[in-house]
Amino acid sequence: MRKIAITSVAVAAVALMALSGCSTRDTSGTGTAKGGFKAGSIIGVALPDKTSENWVLAGKLFTEAITKAGFKADVQYAPSANTASEQASQISTMNTKGAKVLIIGAFDGKQLGSQVKAAHDNGAKVIAYDRIIQDTPNVDYYVAYDNEKVGELQGQALLDGMKARFPDAKTYNIELFSGASTDPNAKVFFDGAMKILQPKIDDKTVKVVSGQTAIGQTQTTGWLAANAQSRMDTLLAGHYSNTVLNGVLSPNDTLGRAIIKSIQTAGKDKPVMPVVTGQDSEAASIPLIMSGVQYSTINKDTTALVNQAVAMVKELAAGKKATTNAPATNNGSVDVATYYLAPELVTKDNAAESYKNNPTLEPLTQQ
Ligand code: BGC
Repeated sequence: MRKIAITSVAVAAVALMALSGCSTRDTSGTGTAKGGFKAGSIIGVALPDKTSENWVLAGKLFTEAITKAGFKADVQYAPSANTASEQASQISTMNTKGAKVLIIGAFDGKQLGSQVKAAHDNGAKVIAYDRIIQDTPNVDYYVAYDNEKVGELQGQALLDGMKARFPDAKTYNIELFSGASTDPNAKVFFDGAMKILQPKIDDKTVKVVSGQTAIGQTQTTGWLAANAQSRMDTLLAGHYSNTVLNGVLSPNDTLGRAIIKSIQTAGKDKPVMPVVTGQDSEAASIPLIMSGVQYSTINKDTTALVNQAVAMVKELAAGKKATTNAPATNNGSVDVATYYLAPELVTKDNAAESYKNNPTLEPLTQQ
């Protein structure tokens, strides 16, 4: 009797340890692998258009890493903006060729339902890369940087930057930008940032002078720089002729540089350059950060994300479930097993440290 009691206490303790070891992470999900596949199998990689450097780099890195892992890489880009249907047909071709895994950076998260269903019908696995694929049960894994965290870091950087650059200001005037409505990440970034900014808007420390605070008013079609620049031109002309602009929430570096151009053209960079945020650590933005023109970016090392996706491919090839480390991501249809990498905020203060192992970016931090 006594022995049984001790044993059950011990079992409960082990169970508790196991639980606390897992903390709140739920690594269960839709990802199951049956059978695996052979070396030399085709791995299809469908990437969106090349609207930021990370996508350009990802294509090259995927080709290298998949080849090195012993598989055949079929890497395709949706050729230009507004190309959901072209990406869908590229994926259909990968299915026809018998790809065993599809790694998809969706151009439009909602337009790939029939292609991923066809992949599953063929017995292939589907990994959503960087952007979740929405409204379909036919996605096995999601691998990305924690997008909500990216938005939170951007919102906090905007507040911190304005405090540092405008030490005498009691309130701050800002404008808000978000990405393409076709990209599910755009809303997650925006919501993450608003989690930080909304309380400051509510207590009137921060004012969105144009009043454009709904995501629909802030979107940038196709993530295209020209669209952000012309919206910023209009905002400055309409609301800032006699008003100081303290900061702009920009969701990425491409748009950040376009917003900066608009601010400079309108002469609103004087006497103090407003705080402009970013994301992606694009090579063209690092010198701007070091000279104080752009306040911040986010380090989301593309090599690490590509390597994580390829690690999943290797596990699937061996007939195993791919490793996941985060709560599953609901895509509007199912909970998709998720692996998140941690994004890092970068300003002038930590740029050299953050890029110290990056041969492209670290030299740009030396002045
Ligand atoms: C990516 C960002 C990128 C944006 C535009 C998003 O889905 O997460 O890193 O800046 O697309 O390409």
